[in-house]
Amino acid sequence: MDNKNPINYLEEDAIFHLRTNRSSYVIKVQSNSYLIHVYWGKRIDGGSIGWYCEAPYRRQNRIENNSPDNPGYTSEFWPYEYPVFGSSDFRPPAINITNSEGYSLNDLKYKSHRIYKGKNRNKNMPSLMEDNDKNIYSLEIILDDKPEQVQVELLYTVYPEYDIITRSSRVDNYSDKPKVLNEIMSSSIDFKDGQMTMVQLSGTNLRENHIIERELTAGTTSIESTRGISSHVQNPFFALKRKGCTENNGEVFGHTLMYSGNFVYRVHIDQYSSARVQTGINKDTFTWLMEPGKSFMTPEAVLCFSDEGMNGLSRRYHKVFREMMPQKIRKEERQIALNTWEACYFDVSHKRIIELAERAKQIGIELIVLDDGWFGKRNDDSSSLGDWDINLSKFPHGLNGLSKDLKKMGLNLGIWLEPEMISPKSNLYKLQPDWCLHIPGKKRTEWRNQLVLDLSRVDVRQYIYKKVLEVLDNSGISYVKWDMNRRLTEVGNSILPPERQAEITHRYTAGLYEILGKLVRKFPSVTFENCASGGGRFDAGMLYYFTQAWPSDNTDAISRLKIFYGSSLCYPINNFISHVTSVPNHQIKRSTPLSFRIDAAMTGILGFEMDLMDLKPDEIDLIINKVEFYKAHRSLIQFGTLYRIKSPFEGNQAAWMVTSEDKTRCIVWFFRFHSEAEEAYWNIRLTGLDIEKQYKCEATDIIYPGDVLMNVGLNVPWKQEDCLSHVWSFFAI
Ligand code: DGJ
Repeated sequence: MDNKNPINYLEEDAIFHLRTNRSSYVIKVQSNSYLIHVYWGKRIDGGSIGWYCEAPYRRQNRIENNSPDNPGYTSEFWPYEYPVFGSSDFRPPAINITNSEGYSLNDLKYKSHRIYKGKNRNKNMPSLMEDNDKNIYSLEIILDDKPEQVQVELLYTVYPEYDIITRSSRVDNYSDKPKVLNEIMSSSIDFKDGQMTMVQLSGTNLRENHIIERELTAGTTSIESTRGISSHVQNPFFALKRKGCTENNGEVFGHTLMYSGNFVYRVHIDQYSSARVQTGINKDTFTWLMEPGKSFMTPEAVLCFSDEGMNGLSRRYHKVFREMMPQKIRKEERQIALNTWEACYFDVSHKRIIELAERAKQIGIELIVLDDGWFGKRNDDSSSLGDWDINLSKFPHGLNGLSKDLKKMGLNLGIWLEPEMISPKSNLYKLQPDWCLHIPGKKRTEWRNQLVLDLSRVDVRQYIYKKVLEVLDNSGISYVKWDMNRRLTEVGNSILPPERQAEITHRYTAGLYEILGKLVRKFPSVTFENCASGGGRFDAGMLYYFTQAWPSDNTDAISRLKIFYGSSLCYPINNFISHVTSVPNHQIKRSTPLSFRIDAAMTGILGFEMDLMDLKPDEIDLIINKVEFYKAHRSLIQFGTLYRIKSPFEGNQAAWMVTSEDKTRCIVWFFRFHSEAEEAYWNIRLTGLDIEKQYKCEATDIIYPGDVLMNVGLNVPWKQEDCLSHVWSFFAI
């Protein structure tokens, strides 16, 4: 085996060995030409493991009947790389196709393969980038079902320094008859054993991405969305921890899809306690008609192995999502915004914005994001979505006039848009009542008084693109908050034939990606913020187009800490926008001190969303101070390496830190929510530092050796009060 090469084909054993710096992924072509999954886990360098597959990996007493060349061979006893439907494997398939005679049986056998440097990306869908400087290699394996005249191409790309392997699959119908694709998974892996704990991010609107863990057991355990968007309910990420895996130690397997529509992630534990782990488009809302000569390609799965616990997994995902996504502005520091939503709601105007902007400038804010209410006749949420023309009675000088006035003050202008929507009370709806998703003759569910534009239609996509262009062109806008405030219902239209109606949800997502792709290419220096009633579409697919996201509409500082902590399992910290808002909090009515709110918001991209005119002089001074601290450290906060220290899901405290790559600087946060008598543990042990270095605390000038901070820990100043927060900055001397 060539140890320098991330992908080796060992001809003698017909083994593909894919390797990252710390992991191995092994596949074998069986003598009967079936593709067998052999191994995924810690990197192995020595020898071949072809022997591993000489016998079925369970039920040794069946070896005789089940050797690959025996006519009595049954699929049930073997671990597959891409299992099919209809024969003797009764576990969930990776692919299920019905032919024109109504039969659903596939038999995929190895045909050929290709290994090459770089990556052959599907440019129409989000996927991690190719980068030849980074030693990225790809493997394509072609599986063929000769009788059915169907081919499946499995695509693997290895990102060695990130311990990441991406997978996707493409199916081609090379017969002269149409076929129906009932199901197609992006990834499918058969683990020998299923003794693992599943970690998922679940919740709802205002309570996104809470961490839930469950032991895997016999049967199928799954998370999914059928809402048309990845949803607030189950985030499209899960991790499988082996026994003994903790925050910083042990083995864990991460899965996420670069996809924002209906997904399913499932683990099937069969009668022999082995686990089939799959990710892909949710078959409950999907079929695809494949005409002769046509193909279908899945979204990309991003698989990550860590033998350094959950934090190791997160660090790898954060790094790859920061570095292997498009857009140069990703590398730039994110600005501090004032968003007008909780400050003004729909009551926005040129005069009011300028008034707020003066105060914003005073406290160090750099960008004003004009939220809902600036267009059409939008004075509440009952109308105007689709009519993206400025309301001239509120903004007599137009967007351009506003951005010019802000520029004079040294501030940038951002704008809120909800382009995927249409209000039944709008000019657009009068003109195009059929442009929304609907089933002819049936009720159209209005959600927040709005319907969803049918992005599977070319004319609708063209309209949306044109309207967004009109808003952005020559208006001096440098930031777009792209919102989406409902789920997809009555998914249908009167354009596609009956046999293609079940394609619409996927076509919607692909249509959205088409619009976003065109926009981010046309406006490479505009920052795009992803929002869907907060975190309703907070996923790696959207992260490809949007450099940042609004993870929740819940702006309460304590709630936010949990949302931040959960989201950080997979998504990078410079993706989270957090705003300081007024108290009592508008969503949950809790009051927390201003310093606590700012410290909490400072853990990601700091912003404000409150009526700044209500601030008292001492509050203004406090904000000015904290904003200065944030600006001085923001490149470290936004681009540093995150280490979680205390989970808000386990008690009354939360703590985490970020370090610079060279470990010469770090920022540490500690939060205590409620005052408790005699509460223990006022000391936090730091991680990720250099034991050889001495660190000086910026505020106190006290010098601590790195090993002391990591082993003895840092004492947290004690105070008996609710909502306590501390932020420290250290630098190596
Ligand atoms: C929902 C968003 O999540 C809020 O931040 C705000 O932009 C409103 N929509 C505006 O309607």
